Amino acid sequence: MNPVEILDAKREGRSLDRASLSAFMTGYLEGTVEEYQMAAFLMAVQFRGLDDGELTDLVEIMIGSGSVLELDHLPSPRVDKHSTGGVGDKVSLVLSPLVAEAGLHVPMMSGRGLGHTGGTLDKLEAIPGFRTDLPLDEFLEVLGAERAAMMGQTAEIAPLDQRLYALRSVTGTVPSIPLIAASIMSKKLAEGLDALVLDVKTGSGAFLSQRDDSLALARTMVGIGERYGVRTTALLTAMDRPLGRTAGNALEVREAVECLRGKGPEDLREVVLALSAELLLSAGEASSFEAARERLAELLDGGAPLARFRRLVQRQGGDPRTVDEVDRLPQAPVVREVRVDAPSHVAEVRPVPLGMAVIALGGGRTRLGQEIDPSVGFSVLVQPGEILEEGDLLGRVHAASEEAAREGEARLRDAVHLGRSRGTPGAPSPLISHRVDASGVWPWDPVGSQRG
Ligand code: URA
Repeated sequence: MNPVEILDAKREGRSLDRASLSAFMTGYLEGTVEEYQMAAFLMAVQFRGLDDGELTDLVEIMIGSGSVLELDHLPSPRVDKHSTGGVGDKVSLVLSPLVAEAGLHVPMMSGRGLGHTGGTLDKLEAIPGFRTDLPLDEFLEVLGAERAAMMGQTAEIAPLDQRLYALRSVTGTVPSIPLIAASIMSKKLAEGLDALVLDVKTGSGAFLSQRDDSLALARTMVGIGERYGVRTTALLTAMDRPLGRTAGNALEVREAVECLRGKGPEDLREVVLALSAELLLSAGEASSFEAARERLAELLDGGAPLARFRRLVQRQGGDPRTVDEVDRLPQAPVVREVRVDAPSHVAEVRPVPLGMAVIALGGGRTRLGQEIDPSVGFSVLVQPGEILEEGDLLGRVHAASEEAAREGEARLRDAVHLGRSRGTPGAPSPLISHRVDASGVWPWDPVGSQRG
């Protein structure tokens, strides 16, 4: 195999056969295809795309680069959810114990922050002592005991994705539909699942900001999942604003715990319930979406998922007291209130500048492997459509120093666009706009009449 011939073919938009694609990928893992050649390949795919055959082959090659979890011995269906990435997205922390409480097994492998987005692993590690790097046997032990376990992708699971993901993040090749689809689905299909729900973000804070692109990504991933016999559905959810009212690792854990208490922001609860209900339906554990949602809401309000989360924290080495006494979570030394100086309405809370502001406070990475400060971020954030009086809170900055807090304030003011008067704010985009399953794309109908 001559890597240059493969690059020439892809540059010209010719389709690669399985043998060539496989040789190129194997060569990369073995060191005979150089980083710069893979970078060129990724950029060619960014512009030329992959056809269905190439994408199927790539997913198979990526899964085959590692091992697949063998979970057939578990007594109930194995399910998971994956988000394409956003700001303030702490859904996994709530969904995982909730769905486990409903009787399903959730072997969840999550990622770290990428670009302006946060990552579940970083949030979990804000809990003092919490270990996300469990050896596989310990992961399976926690999963067996609590029906849920949460860890990072191990070296054994889709190692080719790990290499490509790292390279894509520094070569401008993240926002490619086939590359995102192959990356997410290779990891998820290696978990040995029965059902999967995808939270595909859309809007300015998503990797794919245009709704049509997000829908195409959702359709592509659902198609891959179904080809592998994994019941896969996707919901398109809004990321033209952050989810919930916090952004920053420990602050988001607090908000997730609030949600596990049956409280917390309405939008977070709604997305958690909708995604969890999809999983119950796909696993055959509910007769209708409404019934599933109702059961899950009752569970959340009853407190059992919170108790399961506490046990999960303890089993994974974290301090379980943080779940009841959230002040034990890391707290920033400086908290600065940011207030509005005139009557106004919130026109926009832009996720990208807000996510970048968390990184600037030290709560995210600008280099691979960098230490982060779990305590920093923003809380009590306003949401689009809210009417504010002079002196009302826009949000709180949690920072490591006065200087960082001042910069955080400037960044928060830049992220939030206020209408000049109290005015009449436009309606925010729908929190959940579409549902995608094997039968097609459907406008979101919370009553669920589109489900066959
Ligand atoms: N999440 C992933 O796992 N992969 C991507 O390519 C983008 C988001």
